[in-house]
Amino acid sequence: MDKQLLRDQIIADMHRRYATKKYDPTKKLAPQDWATILEVGRLSPSSYGYEPWKFVLLDTKTKHDIYNFAWGAQASIDGADKVIAILARKDITYNSPYVQHLVSDIKHHDFDPNSPRSQRFKQFQEHDLNLDTPRARFDWACRQTYIALGNMLTAAGRLDIDSCPIEGFDHAKMDQYFADHGLMDPEHWGVAVMASFGYRAQEITPKKRQPLADIYQEL
Ligand SMILES: Cc1cc2nc3c(=O)[nH]c(=O)nc-3n(C[C@H](O)[C@H](O)[C@H](O)COP(=O)(O)O)c2cc1C
Repeated sequence: MDKQLLRDQIIADMHRRYATKKYDPTKKLAPQDWATILEVGRLSPSSYGYEPWKFVLLDTKTKHDIYNFAWGAQASIDGADKVIAILARKDITYNSPYVQHLVSDIKHHDFDPNSPRSQRFKQFQEHDLNLDTPRARFDWACRQTYIALGNMLTAAGRLDIDSCPIEGFDHAKMDQYFADHGLMDPEHWGVAVMASFGYRAQEITPKKRQPLADIYQEL
């Protein structure tokens, strides 16, 4: 593909993606499109490659139950084909069972909490990032879920699918709901953010953004 055409296409894709406020409830995603969006989430980058996330597709009952305290998701619940919650891990430390599993079973490296790699990760988390509480580790994992989220929204836009990122909900109530209904172990997980995917029942609104000169600096 011609390089300039590609650049133009990338920017057109950015204009085409917008936070959808009104969905057409009769329109559903093709299964292959949904699989593609999930695969984009799965392949997203994460710190040390530790994939601190889980993508949970909500069913009708859950959407109904959370409606009142998920104010930012109500338009999505009313019409989007897919509404997901992205969970973030609280249990990523250099010697946690999850990290051991990931290193041994997924990355196929020998796991040793005393290895130079493990100790470097410990130093990185505890000193460089100052992640010394479960809350701090959860927030760090949440930041990474937003990378997957962004990639999924962009991929959806490329497929002509509308979407909305959602953090407008009572996070304590959402965590409680997920814990009470056995959807996550609150010791290991929290709800980071939500997103919806479907087809719009409104016009795309033109982008309003600050000029580049206000947000970009060359040293
Ligand atoms: C992290 C994040 C959380 C958001 N939460 C909500 C939300 O709860 N409900 C909603 O309708 N829009 C939500 N938005 C959409 C933003 O309002 C929207 O992206 C922004 O106004 C820019 O508009 P655009 O995405 O259409 O370009 C959220 C966006 C981001 C990135």
